[in-house]
Amino acid sequence: METKLNAIEDKRTSGAHISFWTESNPSVLSQPLRKSTKTGVVIIGGGIAGMTIAYTLCKRGIRVVVVEDGFIGSGESGRTTAHLVTSLDDRYYKIEKIFGEKGAKLAADSHMKAIDYIEQIIRDEHIDCDFKRVDGYLFLHPSDKEDSLEKEYQASIRAGVKVEMVNEIPGMLNKERKALKFSNQGEFHIMKYLNGLCAVILRMGGEIFTETHAEKIQENGIVSSEGFAIAADDIVVATNAPITSMYIMPLKQFAYRTYVIGGLIRKGDLPAALWWDTGNHEGHSDIFPYHYIRTAAYNDEYDLLISGGEDHLTGLADANGATEEHRYEKLETWTRQHFPMQEIVYKWSGQVMESMDCLAYIGRSPGEEMNLYIVTGDSGNGMTHGTIAGILIPDLIQGIDNKWKDIYEPDRFKLFKSGKTFLKENVDTLIQYFKTNPKDTDAENLKSLQKGEGIIVKLNKEKYGVYRDDEGLLHWVSAECTHLKCIVKWNNDEKTWDCPCHGSRFSYKGEVMNGPANDALDYHSEEYPDFVEAKHKN
Ligand SMILES: Cc1cc2nc3c(=O)[nH]c(=O)nc-3n(C[C@H](O)[C@H](O)[C@H](O)COP(=O)(O)OP(=O)(O)OC[C@H]3O[C@@H](n4cnc5c(N)ncnc54)[C@H](O)[C@@H]3O)c2cc1C
Ligand code: FES
Repeated sequence: METKLNAIEDKRTSGAHISFWTESNPSVLSQPLRKSTKTGVVIIGGGIAGMTIAYTLCKRGIRVVVVEDGFIGSGESGRTTAHLVTSLDDRYYKIEKIFGEKGAKLAADSHMKAIDYIEQIIRDEHIDCDFKRVDGYLFLHPSDKEDSLEKEYQASIRAGVKVEMVNEIPGMLNKERKALKFSNQGEFHIMKYLNGLCAVILRMGGEIFTETHAEKIQENGIVSSEGFAIAADDIVVATNAPITSMYIMPLKQFAYRTYVIGGLIRKGDLPAALWWDTGNHEGHSDIFPYHYIRTAAYNDEYDLLISGGEDHLTGLADANGATEEHRYEKLETWTRQHFPMQEIVYKWSGQVMESMDCLAYIGRSPGEEMNLYIVTGDSGNGMTHGTIAGILIPDLIQGIDNKWKDIYEPDRFKLFKSGKTFLKENVDTLIQYFKTNPKDTDAENLKSLQKGEGIIVKLNKEKYGVYRDDEGLLHWVSAECTHLKCIVKWNNDEKTWDCPCHGSRFSYKGEVMNGPANDALDYHSEEYPDFVEAKHKN
């Protein structure tokens, strides 16, 4: 599989692989914060959530500053597959069980309105981003129970979602099968959309600072790593995993890695549509890893088939059955069984945050006195959840009543996804990881560390992550995650250090790529550092 790699120094994307979206339409804004300033609302994070919140606030005449420590879309938004759905990742029959019929109706309503809002913004602001209304087909994974489609059909109708039961799925190789057809879903090119939003926000007087890390969040605003302050009345943390909640939010959600391949199909061979299976129910997991597929325009001759899935808990790929790199092969095998596909030209992975109860957490940050708002727990529907935040958070800031407030309240405590096993599953896998984690090695073993690989070593009672780059140079980081000190694990696929406890991720140089951690790992770049030498002398 010859696919495109990102220069791993480049923070336009959070890992070694580059997505189709980021490669075909990279963010061009490069404007770091160079002096302290003052605003109405400061927003941390330039993904779909932060940018939509900024857009709505600007539109309502409120002064806004966005800070983004990479580039616009360089977090998970640039790694998405951009299905815009009312057929949510978690089934309505589950949501109904947790939130009641009224809650499920509100959830469906919010996602419908989110797609409408995206469509309206695109129309009003003339953003050319390949937006289309399409049909989506949900079909049974062989491991799922026969009646699950019927249950979902009934629950979707009760929730007010437009759905019908069909016996044929357009586009699939084995098309004669039962499925739920959800009409009026959507798809778009996320980077074209974000670049469009960016231009509109700047035009309306909003300010956006890229390559600007919000290091400190305080009562009256934020301070960047370079020491520049932004004073604000309200602060929004739209960093995907909040960097402000040390204990509460990391315990209410779990980080999963998910994988994508992009393969060529002859133009017009497949209809524009979305396809999803109901997920593998065989494992002991309550998060059923499922496949999600769409097409996108590629060039004059070909479209791209974009297929995703093969998820696992972050940092625990091996404990969950296959290494990170092996996930693409599994995905390719599955995709070729179900869809026509020629050469694979893209592969990338990304991170989703699974909330305990199927819906995102959007609202005031729990346990905070200050005017601090968060959006997290995307549950695989972050395009629409981020857009819902773009409506709900401005309403909360302005004191406008919003009927979705309670279902998205971050402080809520609902039963786990299926009653009890969700938390147990994650704890069990972590325990398994700590048991099977290879014994720490010593400096001698570094000699066998190949270019492009990473390893944990223990020296003078300290654990270090060591990565050998393509030139053979060693890069050392402290292996203790700066969130709550779990030991990070090397992700050889994206060349990052991933924390299995709550999903923080760091570059090989220790820079934070995903929260909840917000501080870098200590970093040294030395072929033979003093502490190694000292150990050898003893
Ligand atoms: C492979 C994949 C497929 C997906 N498919 C779909 C799909 O089809 N449909 C769907 O609805 N959802 C999908 N999702 C989920 C969705 O893409 C994400 O939930 C969504 O993009 C998250 O947006 P966000 O704005 O919350 O976070 P992000 O896009 O991650 O933005 C957060 C930003 O905050 C910045 N940041 C973090 N800390 C700081 C700091 N201290 N200072 C400054 N900046 C900081 C980061 O650099 C980042 O750019 C998918 C996700 C993945 C990974
Ligand atoms: S993410 Fe919490 S300890 Fe690493």
